[in-house]
Amino acid sequence: MAIHFLLNGVLRRVTDVAPATTVLRYLRETERMIGTKEGCAEGDCGACTIVVCRLEDGQPAYRAINSCLLLVPQLDGAAVFTVEGLTAQRDELHPVQQALLENDGTQCGFCTPGFVMSMAAFQQGGEPATDDNIHEMLSGNLCRCTGYRSIVAACRRLEADTADADRRPLLEQPSALEALPSCADYRDDNLIFLTPRSLAELVEVARDYPDAQFLGGGTDLGLLFSKDHKQPRALISTSRVPELKRIEVGAETIQIGAAVTYSEALPYLDEHVPEFADLVRRIGSRQIRNLGTIAGNLANASPIGDTPPCLIALEAMLTLRSAAGTRRVSVESFITGYRKTVLQPGEFIETIHVPRLRANQRFFAYKISKRFDQDISTTIGAFRIDVQNSVVRDLRAVFGGMAAQPARAVSAEKALTGRPWTAETLAGIDAEVARDFSPIDDHRGSAAYRLRAAANLFRRLQLETTTEAPLRLELL
Ligand code: FES
Ligand code: FES
Repeated sequence: MAIHFLLNGVLRRVTDVAPATTVLRYLRETERMIGTKEGCAEGDCGACTIVVCRLEDGQPAYRAINSCLLLVPQLDGAAVFTVEGLTAQRDELHPVQQALLENDGTQCGFCTPGFVMSMAAFQQGGEPATDDNIHEMLSGNLCRCTGYRSIVAACRRLEADTADADRRPLLEQPSALEALPSCADYRDDNLIFLTPRSLAELVEVARDYPDAQFLGGGTDLGLLFSKDHKQPRALISTSRVPELKRIEVGAETIQIGAAVTYSEALPYLDEHVPEFADLVRRIGSRQIRNLGTIAGNLANASPIGDTPPCLIALEAMLTLRSAAGTRRVSVESFITGYRKTVLQPGEFIETIHVPRLRANQRFFAYKISKRFDQDISTTIGAFRIDVQNSVVRDLRAVFGGMAAQPARAVSAEKALTGRPWTAETLAGIDAEVARDFSPIDDHRGSAAYRLRAAANLFRRLQLETTTEAPLRLELL
C-alpha cells in the first residue's frame, strides 16, 4: 500500500521509502525542499518545524511539529506545509513572513524557517496573541545568537491578521483530505509500518506482531531513527485508533485514551488538575506536545519522565489490553525498573484513569531543570496532600530523577503523615529523603544536589500550602 498526503497542496504518493525515514530527511533528500533545516535532530531546536494539518471534528487543525521526529508513514492522510509552501501559494510574502520582516525579526537561515512555521501554525489556529501564548508557542524554537524581542513583536501583529476576513487558510480545500486513501499497512523491503484504524484492528496487529514497537507520537522513539538511524522490523502506530483518542470526564475520574496527545489533553487538565497541566506545559515544546502522548511517556518508563511521578501521586490506574483481554494496573506498579514495565508482548496501554481530587486533597508538581522550557528534569517532585486542621491526614510524595524508576518517598510520607504541617515538622526531612533514595551523580546534578533539592521541595510544598500568596516564579 502507498502513503498519501498533500505536500504544500500537491498530492504525494509514497511507496519506496523505508518506514522509519524521518519527514525531515524525506523533505531534504527526496523532495529537495531544503528550507526545512536540521539543527539537533532530536526535537530540541525547532529548525525542522513544519505544519501538519488534519481534520478534527470536520475542521482543519494546524499543528507545528518537529519533522526530525516524525516518520513519513505518520503523514498518511495529512496536509503538510513547509516554509517553501507559504510563499508558493501566493505571489506575496505570507503575513507571518511580512510581520517578521517589518519587525526586524528575520534571523539566520537555520532558525528563521522554524520560527516562521511555528508562527504560521499559531496564526492559522487563531489563538489570541497574548504574551503567554506567544512565549509558549516560541519555546520550541531556539536561537542563541540574538534575541526574541523582535520575533515576539512580530507575533503580536498576528492577532490583527487573524481578525482579517481575507486571511487565507493554508489548506484551501479541506475536503481534499477526506478524499485521500488511507494506508493501514505500509511495507518497504521487510520493514512494516502498521496504522490500525480501530481498537479491534490494533489488538489484531499487536497479536500478529508481538515484537513490534508501538508508536504513540514517537517523540522518544523518534531519536532511534533520527540519531541512530535504526530501522525496526515492525512499528505499530496507535495514533489513528479512534477509541484511543477519547477523553472522558466522569464524576470520579478523567479517562484519557492512550493516543491523546499532550496538547489535546491540556484543556481538560487545565480545567480539572491545573497543577498537572502546568507541568505538562513544561514537557518539551509545543511541537513535541502536539505529537507526544502521556501513554508514551509512561510506556517509556524513563526515570526522568515528567508525567509518571504525577500520575503515581494522583493514584492513576491504567487499562492494558491485548488479544487475551484487558487488565487494570496502577501506574505505581506499571513501571517495574529502569525502562521496564509490566507490559507483555502484544499488550498496550488503552486508557489512563486519573482520579479527580477529593474535597480536601490538593496536588502540586515541581520540576527542577536547568531551563524552564524545553528541558529534561533533573528531579521532579509530585505531591498529593490532605491537610486538615493543620495536620497532614494523607500524603503521597513521588519523585523522578532520584532512582532507577519514579518512586514514592515512603519514609518521608510516614514521617509526615499525622504530624502538624509546620516548618518544625520538616526539620528532619533531609534524613528521611536520604533514607528513601540513593540517587546517581550525572551531568544534570550530583547525588547531594538531588537529595537537597528533593528535601527542599517538601519545604516548598509546606510554604505553598500554608501561605496565602502562591509561590510563583514570575518570568520577566
Ligand atoms: Fe532540532 Fe528537529 S532538528 S528540533
Ligand atoms: Fe539563527 Fe541564532 S540560530 S540567528
